[in-house]
Amino acid sequence: MRNKKSTYSTSDIEQSKKSNSENIADDSADDIVDKEEESLELEKVEEKENTVMDNNTETSLTTLSEQSQINDLTNLEIQDIEGIGPTTAKKLREAGIFSVMDLAVAAVEDLAVDINASKESAASFIMAAQKLLRESDVLEKEFITADTALKKRRSLLRCSTGSSMLDDLFLGGIETQAVTELYGEFGSGKSQICHTMCITAGQPVESGGLNSGIIYIDTEGTFRPERLEQISSSRNVDPVRALQNVAVCKVYNSAHLELIVKNLGKYIDDYKAKLVVVDSIISLHRAEFSGRGTLADRQQRLNSIMHKLLRISEIYNVAIIVTNQVQSAPDTFFGDPTKPTGGNVIGHASTYRVYLRKSGENRIAKMIDSPYHPYSEVRFTINEKGTDNLDEGKKSKKE
Ligand SMILES: Nc1ncnc2c1ncn2[C@@H]1O[C@H](COP(=O)(O)OP(=O)(O)OP(=O)(O)O)[C@@H](O)[C@H]1O
Ligand SMILES: [Mg+2]
Repeated sequence: MRNKKSTYSTSDIEQSKKSNSENIADDSADDIVDKEEESLELEKVEEKENTVMDNNTETSLTTLSEQSQINDLTNLEIQDIEGIGPTTAKKLREAGIFSVMDLAVAAVEDLAVDINASKESAASFIMAAQKLLRESDVLEKEFITADTALKKRRSLLRCSTGSSMLDDLFLGGIETQAVTELYGEFGSGKSQICHTMCITAGQPVESGGLNSGIIYIDTEGTFRPERLEQISSSRNVDPVRALQNVAVCKVYNSAHLELIVKNLGKYIDDYKAKLVVVDSIISLHRAEFSGRGTLADRQQRLNSIMHKLLRISEIYNVAIIVTNQVQSAPDTFFGDPTKPTGGNVIGHASTYRVYLRKSGENRIAKMIDSPYHPYSEVRFTINEKGTDNLDEGKKSKKE
């Protein structure tokens, strides 16, 4: 159902679809050999990815979700870390690392380059930061008993997607301390869910929100504040306050995205965010690393971003949503339209993977990968309220 008041105009949507399919068409127009080569190369790098992944799977980090504790931690100084003196602390600050949390989520290789130190030193600083957080009870001890783990899991927060039917798929909403990947073809509703959650996340916890700010990282230029205005007004939420809660960053290239993710901890603190959206995670890397021989580099960069996001979600107790495209568009012959792009790296680092598709006027969401959700699918719709439950009357007529 298209609402007359809609400010997300048809031309915007068509333009967005067009540029999307142009990108994909450009991809395929490059030539058939390139596509075949990409899939062969992708297979080769997947093996390598697994090794990279092992290196990245650092000690499992879990937070206590009590905000007070997190706040206390931001008071911990880098110099409180064993083995870090004023000179190293200065170097770290120059590299954009201001807190123990920033250091704990840093990637070894990046840090080594940034502070001009060996990988061994960088790794030892990161481990020392994690040790300090562990001693302060923010990170789990090396081993905890399962009942303690359960208690911690119960303290995580859930944010409504705007549709209780869709929330059911997540057993009550999208979780903090996790990265949720939404993938599907163009128009399947990925950005609409993200827009709707910009409004729901700002709501009080009792109303299914996170009572927090929201960080929206827009790599495709499809963020529309007018749509947020429409969604909030339709949900009887004050649009002025709702929009003030959302910090948007338009990202133009992959290096910019990497920089934003690197400094994300600071932005989360600045905007008191409990929801971070990256819409989409792969488009820039896909566009920039399209030539022969660049695939392994692309995968490694994506892997580093995804692992950083996962660590941040756990340490800062935030919900992170990333959107991803599917391998093929209706106008191309290559790739499986039901498979996400990005090979193993995105999938391995996402906690939950959800596949979205259109079904007439409605949408279907399917839980594809989760450590504990049952394999299931639900239907929802998109209207002036953003993502919404199906109108039962319409549902029976349509299906
Ligand atoms: N105000 C509105 N009222 C009703 N439906 C709308 C409204 N705005 C957008 N939509 C629906 O949402 C669709 C766009 O969905 P969305 O932008 O989430 O796609 P996407 O999955 O992000 O696709 P892409 O891969 O191109 O980014 C439109 O095709 C339209 O069906
Ligand atoms: Mg989109």
